[in-house]
Amino acid sequence: MKGFPNYLVAFALMAMACSIASAYDPAPLQDFCVAASTSTDAVFVNGKFCKDPKLVNANDFFFQGLNIPRSTANQPGSNVTLLTVDQIQGLNTLGVSLARIDFAPNGLNPPHIHPHATEIFVVVKGTLYVGFVTSNPDNRFFTKVLNAGDVFVFPIGLIHFQYNIGSTDALAFSGLGSQNPGRVSIAETIFGSNPPINANVLTKAFQLDKNVVKYLQKQFSSNNI
Ligand SMILES: *[C@@H]1O[C@H](CO)[C@@H](O)[C@H](O)[C@H]1NC(C)=O
Repeated sequence: MKGFPNYLVAFALMAMACSIASAYDPAPLQDFCVAASTSTDAVFVNGKFCKDPKLVNANDFFFQGLNIPRSTANQPGSNVTLLTVDQIQGLNTLGVSLARIDFAPNGLNPPHIHPHATEIFVVVKGTLYVGFVTSNPDNRFFTKVLNAGDVFVFPIGLIHFQYNIGSTDALAFSGLGSQNPGRVSIAETIFGSNPPINANVLTKAFQLDKNVVKYLQKQFSSNNI
């Protein structure tokens, strides 16, 4: 940089470094965060308020009862018990959460997305057919049959599922890389939105008969009552 004073070069490099650093937004912990113009109609998001450390005790980091089987007497035949910052307040800002997933025989944890977290899944009991699909345009399907002790990873933001193909109940646990992993259940979100999406949109998008769309909307509308 002949001809330029050193301090100017240093300044230009610093400015470049700053613009690189600020090219990223912090990863959101909620679906959206609409800007509020005054503090009176604002809430604190992307984490929660912090408790005064003097008042924190061991119970803020504790949960009891994840050993108890959950009821799978429901349509999909599965039950997800999620421990997020809402159940264990001590998780605030720490970037992890935990789930227990119970499966009846033929039970399915239906295709869904965690918008904020990668998931690492371990089978404790039973035999599960699991998989995830990558984004467009490849839509590659990565799948495995898992037995007790087997571990599988579902990358952040990708559609994935777990299906019990064994003859017994199945049990699995998951670690998730967010205090609030979020969940978008594909069928529920699309066919059970509140209010419903215009059936013409879904008819065209899914290449279905409109009556099938209306049937599906009816099946999933109970989620919103
Ligand atoms: C999951 O299990 C709990 C406890 O057994 C039960 O109260 C809850 O209704 C179950 N959830 C579903 C979706 O079946």
